[in-house]
Amino acid sequence: MLKSLAVEWLPSILAANPLDLRNAVEKVVRSEIKQIHLDIMDGHFVPNISFGPQIAESMHEVYSSLFLDVHLMLARPDDFIDPFLEAGAGRIILHAELSKRIVTRSLKRLRDAACLTGLAINPETNVDVLFPYLEDWAIDRVLIMSVHPGFSGQEFITSVLPKVKMLKMRYPNVMLCMDGGINSETAAQSFDYGARALVVGASFFQGLSFEKV
Ligand code: DX5
Ligand code: ZN
Repeated sequence: MLKSLAVEWLPSILAANPLDLRNAVEKVVRSEIKQIHLDIMDGHFVPNISFGPQIAESMHEVYSSLFLDVHLMLARPDDFIDPFLEAGAGRIILHAELSKRIVTRSLKRLRDAACLTGLAINPETNVDVLFPYLEDWAIDRVLIMSVHPGFSGQEFITSVLPKVKMLKMRYPNVMLCMDGGINSETAAQSFDYGARALVVGASFFQGLSFEKV
């Protein structure tokens, strides 16, 4: 997969065979990728459930140098920040669609714990919701969802691309990450619009080697 593209690659373990997670993590390590993306879902914020901090903890114990990028798709992320911090999360990403009270409380907890922080926006969410947070808090990156969150293997929503450009112009120093439906074509498009980090689920784990996707 366009490994030559100068971006951070974040394989999403959600797309891996759940009975063979060790092999999936080893594929990431073999590809010389330093980060793994963990999609955490509660069945409320998104119409699916995935896994909890135990999986993160087990990965961290065995592959301690692998950076855990934790994407919380939870209606109450604040309940799960401490368990994921204890499990070894390197960065925790929250959704900006949640109430300001929940987002602010979560950001404060992450700042106190000196954990890297990201904010995510769904395809239909306007970039404006991010502005107050980007101005008042040290946000490490923005995750622009290019699918409706909940499932791996969906088609990339091209209409979200202008949001990347808008954010790039207003906040040139904030890392922009695209999440959902990334393949060689959509990776190149996302890069052209300004994304410098790309989550890869199905295209990385389902049969195609990183070099060839
Ligand atoms: C969707 C998740 C994504 C997804 C990426 O809710 O946030 O990280 O698993 O998988 P692909 O690349 O298959 O869309
Ligand atoms: Zn994700």
